[in-house]
Amino acid sequence: MAYQIKQFEKDAKTAIWPKLEMIAQHSDYPDIKPKEVSQIFVAYDNDEPVAFSGLACYHGFWCLRICVVSPEHRGNGLQRKMIKQRLTWAKSRGAKWVNVWVNPLNKYSLYNIQRSGFTKQPDKPKMFGGKLHQKYRVML
Ligand SMILES: CC(C)(COP(=O)(O)OP(=O)(O)OC[C@H]1O[C@@H](n2cnc3c(N)ncnc32)[C@H](O)[C@@H]1OP(=O)(O)O)[C@@H](O)C(=O)NCCC(=O)NCCS
Repeated sequence: MAYQIKQFEKDAKTAIWPKLEMIAQHSDYPDIKPKEVSQIFVAYDNDEPVAFSGLACYHGFWCLRICVVSPEHRGNGLQRKMIKQRLTWAKSRGAKWVNVWVNPLNKYSLYNIQRSGFTKQPDKPKMFGGKLHQKYRVML
């Protein structure tokens, strides 16, 4: 399947958000808001948004945020592709490393994060979406 990934920031991400809310329902984080991410990466199948993911920069600390793929498009490499694009973009903006918080019970997400070079950090797990998440980091 030939997907196209586009990137949105500032006002554009708020405009695209209503189209993404349906996709967000298929995740543990249905209530995430555009202000919680700096950049949004959206994967399209033809003109239809089928997946999205976020990247945030908090006071110079970079973090991958939500990633949700519509159920019928899972297993086509979209999460891994969007991880790669977000890391490339963060690096181009001067990031030396990027963090992510992962629910270790989310086996495909954890697998994709580890396959993308992230390693587990010693920080205490934190709650997101009512589930414990472990911190991972990749050096760029
Ligand atoms: C977790 C999630 C983002 C994965 O997205 P995805 O685009 O399907 O993942 P990818 O296709 O990039 O995964 C690539 C690898 O994982 C495997 N994989 C992913 N989902 C799979 C599935 N449902 N069944 C079998 N293998 C799967 C792929 O086979 C591939 O492995 P390989 O490279 O060894 O062949 C998606 O399942 C999802 O949106 N889940 C709900 C929301 C969520 O949990 N988000 C993550 C936390 S924010």
